[in-house]
Amino acid sequence: PHPVQGRPGHLCEGTSGRQGLGGQLLAEGRGAPLEKGAPLPPKTFVSVDNGAGQDGDRALSTCPPGGLGRACRGGRTRAEAAEGASFAAFWGARTVFAHKRSAAALHEDIKMKKTICLLPGDGIGPEIVAQGVAVLEAVAKKFGHEFDFVPALIGGAAIDATGETLPSAPGGPCPAATVEACQKADAVYLGAVGGLKWDNIEPARRPEKGLLGIRKALGLFANLRPALLLPELAGACLLRSDIAARGLDLIVVRELTGDIYFGEPRAIEERNGLRVGYNTMIYDENEIRRIAKVAFETARQRRKKVCSVEKSNVLETSRLWKAVVQEVHADYPDVELSHMYVDNAAMQLVRDPSQFDVILTGNIFGDILSDEASVITGSLGMLPSASMGAQAPALFEPIHGSAPDIAGQDKANPLATILSAGMMLRLAFGLSEEADAVENAVRQTLRDGFRTGDIMEDGCILVGCAEMGRLVAERL
Ligand code: IPM
Ligand code: MG
Repeated sequence: PHPVQGRPGHLCEGTSGRQGLGGQLLAEGRGAPLEKGAPLPPKTFVSVDNGAGQDGDRALSTCPPGGLGRACRGGRTRAEAAEGASFAAFWGARTVFAHKRSAAALHEDIKMKKTICLLPGDGIGPEIVAQGVAVLEAVAKKFGHEFDFVPALIGGAAIDATGETLPSAPGGPCPAATVEACQKADAVYLGAVGGLKWDNIEPARRPEKGLLGIRKALGLFANLRPALLLPELAGACLLRSDIAARGLDLIVVRELTGDIYFGEPRAIEERNGLRVGYNTMIYDENEIRRIAKVAFETARQRRKKVCSVEKSNVLETSRLWKAVVQEVHADYPDVELSHMYVDNAAMQLVRDPSQFDVILTGNIFGDILSDEASVITGSLGMLPSASMGAQAPALFEPIHGSAPDIAGQDKANPLATILSAGMMLRLAFGLSEEADAVENAVRQTLRDGFRTGDIMEDGCILVGCAEMGRLVAERL
């Protein structure tokens, strides 16, 4: 490893690039480390390594002169560069294009002030988000950042608050005020939506539509769902021990704003005296291309393997999917690409999940496979997710639902939500050290034997939701 990699916040002069190129330049004598307080030569391009080695390539083309800019991964044209900027934003790379700024000022910029829109939602949502906020507050205190939390309504909570369930009503599960609050924020932090109470509401206004609505409104096309078998929770794994022993550490990269979820036409109607229901599975090549890029970029941060999952033996949508993924792969020769039909993938996930690194798939297949991938770890209450678009804000939420049966009883497991805050720190804010701290605090809490009911094992100490949050914050 070269000198810079893994040291967040280190400043290095030179152009930056993936895999800590800033560090490489230093090693080759083409860059210079910057000491805090040292004056910067004018027009210096400064790479702030975020420890994940994910600085952008040509920030110069999009960063405002003299200002702080987000990094951007390179591109030959402006449009490509702009797209690249969004990728870098995914990884929270922070690249600074500095005109006559002092290194001290840049160090100060590393202290962050961020606004986080809270969407607690329904069921256990408010309880788990409260614990996530407690942990984020502890992070802010420890690392000197400032997080402002702005609550807004989503799902059943929004329906109840507005008292409107008619399609033409201004409220509903995803009110305009909520979309606005999210758009003003640097990140969105969501609990869960839905519950029996709203089950008989007209389908277009169910709480779930709030979640789909906010994803669409914010353009969150990329859903990252890591599934990991923590050694601390090996006992909870649903797989046979010889299979589990091979390990499970994969991430589902699910397309989130297209496919049969949003395709038109869709309806239940009468044809020749019979009721028929139909939906449209549809992707255009740009939608496929941008999610494929996310998968390949993700793979570069991991074990460099992408498995694209579709049903191209039957579906046209899938045939296009496969063809476009192959085209995008041409730009990622260092990543291994395989293809798998979704039925086979569902089977391979339980037969030998260790074969997967990144699973790239569409909205509906990703919905199904991510539940499967997560539950086999035995800890649905443990798994976080990130949903990202071309611009901030991204949205972070646990993958589990609103669990109305245990809502309000202080029984929920807040760890998936807390780990989602970790993903926020890493991916939205580029704070990898802080994200590591959250993950380590969670694992330490588990090693110390504390468990909520869903992951309880013999010999462990049963705690409630609030206590679990406190224990994690205490270990930061
Ligand atoms: C998920 C959920 C949602 C989805 C529902 C609640 C709309 O199952 O996030 O996986 O299908 O995307
Ligand atoms: Mg789901």
